[in-house]
Amino acid sequence: MLIPKVENLKVQNLDATIQPGRTSIPEILQERLQIEYLLNPDAPSAIDLNSAQDVIAGLSQSHKALSPRYFYDDRGSELFEAICELPEYYLTRTETALLADIAGAVVAQVAPTQLVELGSGASRKTRLLLDALVARGPGAWYVPIDVSGGALHASAARLREAYPGLGVHGIVADFEPGPPPLPPAARRLVAYLGSSIGNFVPPADARLLRGLAARLHAGDALLLGVDLVKGEDVMRAAYDDAAGVTAEFNRNVLRVINRLLDADFDPAAFDHVARWDAATASIEMHLRARRAHRVHLAALDLSVAFAAGETIHTETSRKFTRASVTALLAASAFRLARWDEAPGGGFALALATLEGRP
Ligand code: AVI
Repeated sequence: MLIPKVENLKVQNLDATIQPGRTSIPEILQERLQIEYLLNPDAPSAIDLNSAQDVIAGLSQSHKALSPRYFYDDRGSELFEAICELPEYYLTRTETALLADIAGAVVAQVAPTQLVELGSGASRKTRLLLDALVARGPGAWYVPIDVSGGALHASAARLREAYPGLGVHGIVADFEPGPPPLPPAARRLVAYLGSSIGNFVPPADARLLRGLAARLHAGDALLLGVDLVKGEDVMRAAYDDAAGVTAEFNRNVLRVINRLLDADFDPAAFDHVARWDAATASIEMHLRARRAHRVHLAALDLSVAFAAGETIHTETSRKFTRASVTALLAASAFRLARWDEAPGGGFALALATLEGRP
């Protein structure tokens, strides 16, 4: 059977259904390989009522906004992969180099039997942790969680093949405000990399970590990748690259809304804006209307007027300090156990252990 096509933006929750048979993965590898669908792969519409309400609310307020979750259709995911390769976007390569240095020590310290990854995507950086995990002996499990069933299937099958002793239990699910129930394990290490936590505007970041803590047991650990506050020019360039890839990624949100809600946004009518907000220690991305015009969202029977220069806030990328990470962890029952910064500074991996349920 073929792998079912799963859109990135499926939002209808189903009861847990394990569908290990719905793959084209060789039988020998299917043993200890499961993909659990908590998003409906066959839903006819990629947007539900809540999401529609979310778009209506965002475009009706005086400072217009759209959720960054709408970036990630297939094209948006490809553009994000391209961003990770850009010379200006230092985050990915800095975190990867740091992880290569410390993965062994982190895994030795936590001694996990299960590695959970939130927003696993292509699971590239994860291999550094998996190498250390499988080196501890057979019987370990990797539990990637992602909204994209396509990406999850592909990486789960690749990893199952690359690590014969490893069990892989993928979960296709949204993990906001917390991940779904996890397969049982004696000790878990949860990786949340790439400074993705920075895309959750407080207090949503602490809410997410509390939701995670509620799925874990005392002694389980979280490895959190965080981009650190640094020179404004360096941070801003990472979100406004010379080749214009991030600008296309930003405008992609309009293409996604056009498709999902039968809207007529003209992406070329908006400029990409990336600016540093010192008050919230964040890079904000906006789309700025080049001229006054109206946009119609037929599926919502909604018409939205834009003044020339008016903006839509599309993403917040918060930047951290050791103190702000410690405070965030404390607000969600985790305690900082280890702090590693990249040799040149600028990015950190925080290892935190769960003290007890929040
Ligand atoms: C996914 N996330 C951590 C990226 C970030 O840096 O906030 C998304 C991104 N937006 C623009 N460039 C990359």
